[in-house]
Amino acid sequence: MAIVSRIPAPPDLIQIFEPIRQDLELVEQQFVQHIESRVELIPEIGRYIQSSGGKRIRPALLLMCARLGGYSGEGATLYASVVEFIHTATLVHDDMIDDSVVRRGRQAVHSRWGNDITVLLGDYLYIKSMGMALTVDSLELVRLLCDVTLRMIEGELYQLTKTGIVDLSEEQHLDIIKRKTAYLFGGAAQIGSILGDLPEEKQQALREYGFNLGVAFQLVDDLLDYTANEEVLGKPVGGDVREGKMTLPAIYLLQQAGDPARQLLDDIVGKRRFSDGTWNELLVLLREHRVLEQAFERATEFAAEAKRHLEGFPATPELEALKLLPDYVLARDW
Ligand code: IPE
Ligand code: IPE
Ligand code: MG
Ligand code: MG
Repeated sequence: MAIVSRIPAPPDLIQIFEPIRQDLELVEQQFVQHIESRVELIPEIGRYIQSSGGKRIRPALLLMCARLGGYSGEGATLYASVVEFIHTATLVHDDMIDDSVVRRGRQAVHSRWGNDITVLLGDYLYIKSMGMALTVDSLELVRLLCDVTLRMIEGELYQLTKTGIVDLSEEQHLDIIKRKTAYLFGGAAQIGSILGDLPEEKQQALREYGFNLGVAFQLVDDLLDYTANEEVLGKPVGGDVREGKMTLPAIYLLQQAGDPARQLLDDIVGKRRFSDGTWNELLVLLREHRVLEQAFERATEFAAEAKRHLEGFPATPELEALKLLPDYVLARDW
């Protein structure tokens, strides 16, 4: 990210995922297999989404945590596919809700197929993910998956109730972030640790690792919404304020920059008067008050907290990869 001069070049994600490369390939294959249906539209959209790429960070997290416990059986790739299905369902619904027309550099599902199909396709993916999880005899894991998915939907709903509201506290915002993003990250790590049959305290450590990584991930996503190159990011920049969403940089600006910031945010977020002019004014204020750096500092704290939870695990290639992931999350530009 441009504002982060003190971070070294991002360690390449492909390199980080090297220990689980083959499993991730199986996840890709399973994704396509599980989207099969006699209703041709479902695999058609499924393949469109799958082939558009994406970081696959949640399945990778699950696979690496499973391997920390020495597990690399079929269950790991199945649950890794399940979490990617859930994530995919959230994205297709989220883009429709956010009225965001581009995803992974392509037309979002709703802009190509319309809202009716998108609602049902998202529903299909959610239910399919639970059906996939139920093919293994573990209600514990299904319960966990339901729980994190419900929190995620709560997060999206809670965020909607705050749309257009300028006076959002940092605490409220973090609550939204934890629900909509961090619990799924934490759940993915925890499922891996359960499959790896790690002792309870290690399971908790990995869940905390994933959770804190998830918070950092979303904080950086919110920063990229201000700073990224749209083509690299593969989705629109400036979308958050345009949609009436206050994220950490705007929250800090409101706290620190007095009347000019309040007037501008009232205009953009409250009254939805977004234009090139108001956007550029906002960018000037953000830079002047160094609030992007402050929000990045918060992300750094969560990334460091994530790493702390890896202490005490034996040194393996997977542990090394997990240690690199928080740095990647901070340094990523898409
Ligand atoms: C996007 O997640 C949604 C957020 C939680 C910010 P990703 O950035 O992991 O999306 P893909 O899968 O790589 O496209
Ligand atoms: C994350 O929030 C969405 C979910 C976790 C469902 P955003 O709305 O910021 O994600 P992007 O920016 O659209 O990927
Ligand atoms: Mg969105
Ligand atoms: Mg975003």
